[in-house]
Amino acid sequence: RKRITTRDIAAMRQRGEAIAMLTAYDATMAALVEMAGVDMILVGDSLGNVVLGHDTTLPVTLDDMIRHAAAVKRGSARALLVCDMPFGSVTDPSTALANAVRVMKETGVEAVKVEGGLHMVPVVEQLIAHGIAVMAHIGLTPQAVHQMGGYYMHGKDETSAERLRQEARTLEAAGAFAIVLECVTPVLAAEITRSLAIPTIGIGSGKDCAGQVLVVNDLIGLNVNPPPSFARPRADVASVIKAAVGDYVSETKAVRGPIPLPRRAD
Ligand code: KIV
Ligand code: NA
Repeated sequence: RKRITTRDIAAMRQRGEAIAMLTAYDATMAALVEMAGVDMILVGDSLGNVVLGHDTTLPVTLDDMIRHAAAVKRGSARALLVCDMPFGSVTDPSTALANAVRVMKETGVEAVKVEGGLHMVPVVEQLIAHGIAVMAHIGLTPQAVHQMGGYYMHGKDETSAERLRQEARTLEAAGAFAIVLECVTPVLAAEITRSLAIPTIGIGSGKDCAGQVLVVNDLIGLNVNPPPSFARPRADVASVIKAAVGDYVSETKAVRGPIPLPRRAD
């Protein structure tokens, strides 16, 4: 089967068909999540937390994203691939364009994602003017964690809700093909979803978005720290790994008697 395109995603939204998206950071996981039927794969800058061992997404570089997005591309054949633009890579429209062009040329993904609301509109317009498909991302935007002062729900009061409505509307008008709503109160996420022709992709924002995205490790229980409360793991892969490795270690160490040392040749 051929690869899903942004037109296919628009058609799914028109038909009212929900869109399933997960992250992946390497070729094997990309192949597996695709075999299980996801429509889109996000090479998220959650790479920083999940794979690279950082506390936030801020240290992730463009080269990190490119290396992992290229691996995901090699492992996949069907899902539409989206690569996150990392912190500091979209600081103005011309920087953003140069960096997004590198992502497109060096990885083969179909789209990029940029975090941010109204201040990101000129960047989104610039990328779209140059033929790059853009997914927007509002609500909780982890690259701004220090400015926000932590991770929490957005859209709780009317000022914040109205801001999110305006950002969603403006990013759609700027040409984004989809928009991630992260930790937006479910009632507001549902309202924004109804108000847009492009799909909303929710995470921690209730079930009434046009699609859902999740960090794959949180879905399959491949973590050492507890996942966010909205994730609800469907498997415990961490336990499977620990059990298999434990067996291997015991079997390896069960060799009888002292292992012979080389005879000294003096
Ligand atoms: O980096 C990421 O994984 C993300 C999502 C979970 C939306 O941006
Ligand atoms: Na991200």
